Amino acid sequence: MSRRFLFVLGSARTEGNTELLAHAAAEQLPADVEQRWIRLADHPLPDFVDLRHASDHVRPPADSATGLLLEATLAATDIVIASPLYWYSVSGLTKRYLDHWSGWLRVPGIDFRATLAGRTLWGIAALADKEPSVADPYAGTLNNSAAYMGMRFGGVLLGNGSGPGDVLKDTDALTRAKTFFAQDAPLARFPYQDQAA
Ligand SMILES: Cc1cc2nc3c(=O)[nH]c(=O)nc-3n(C[C@H](O)[C@H](O)[C@H](O)COP(=O)(O)O)c2cc1C
Repeated sequence: MSRRFLFVLGSARTEGNTELLAHAAAEQLPADVEQRWIRLADHPLPDFVDLRHASDHVRPPADSATGLLLEATLAATDIVIASPLYWYSVSGLTKRYLDHWSGWLRVPGIDFRATLAGRTLWGIAALADKEPSVADPYAGTLNNSAAYMGMRFGGVLLGNGSGPGDVLKDTDALTRAKTFFAQDAPLARFPYQDQAA
């Protein structure tokens, strides 16, 4: 199956560091790999309302932000969460997108979890802090989400920067970007599964 990458941009500003780093990584993808880029700020999702146990679930209309993001997610073999580090985790825009996955798990006819199982989740994040370990909660959120969905997880590409464009001075991050998507992406496991092994 030819690969189709969906870049989900979660910054609250355009052309910020995360987006620049994501482009540096995407430049290395082979030409036959499809790329789709969606800025969550351009397609505001409604607040997630938890109707999981309360109502019939319908597929959101294709002309809504929710429908657009659902269709794009279903079509992707690789989902790249490109969110800056906000309060040590993903941005609010990104978290809202992930919250909608919980609703999509109940939409009849799409078998959201089975469709995403075996596909790959990746993370790309800019952060102001120079110490990468402060982003562990971010990596944990994505790893565990991938494990829950039966997805592969390719890890998180981090780059340092505060003001827009700063990440271009992080030459180590730009070097890591060159090979990021070439890395092996094993099936994600919860940390307790590794401890038990
Ligand atoms: C709401 C908010 C929360 C942030 N939280 C953190 C944080 O927890 N740790 C950190 O190192 N940087 C934090 N930052 C700084 C951003 O991660 C940094 O400016 C990054 O370069 C922004 O990426 P962008 O240009 O792609 O938007 C925060 C910035 C904002 C606006």
